[in-house]
Amino acid sequence: MESQAKIVKALNKQMGKEFSSAYNYLASAAYFEEQELPGFANFFHIQAKEELVHAMKIFEFIHRIGGDTELLPIPAPKAGFESALDAFEQGLKQEKELASEINSLLNLATDEHHSPARVFMFWFVNEQVEEEALFTRCIKRIKLVGKDGQGLLMLDKEFAERKADSAEGPDA
Ligand code: FEO
Repeated sequence: MESQAKIVKALNKQMGKEFSSAYNYLASAAYFEEQELPGFANFFHIQAKEELVHAMKIFEFIHRIGGDTELLPIPAPKAGFESALDAFEQGLKQEKELASEINSLLNLATDEHHSPARVFMFWFVNEQVEEEALFTRCIKRIKLVGKDGQGLLMLDKEFAERKADSAEGPDA
């Protein structure tokens, strides 16, 4: 397979992962809506939107480099969570997987001497560092409050204030 075709195939796969990630975060948002924790739900709504932005950036980039877009199936998210902590731990796990996939894509672009894809992936590498740090910080804070209702309500208030802030990207 020629270099360009390999890159386009990997990009299409990654685009699917980003859409899938958005879908999973939507499931987390739904869980928190059901728990009557709208601030936590807001956190995951924003997270889902960010993943859509990531997917669309890849969608547009594939077109710009003259590749064909392939929209792959998106698996159904896991139903329900055990707790707020569980939802955030699943989120961190997902972010670590995404980071590893982004890293593989960057390595592929390097091996294939595909400079545009290589430069394009740099933004995603930085974004993953931010995302993992965000989830790690949230998990520490949720562990601090444990199952204390007051503590969770306090965090819910904080999460309610979160605004979409990282929709910018390589082409913004
Ligand atoms: Fe698309 Fe949360 O990384």
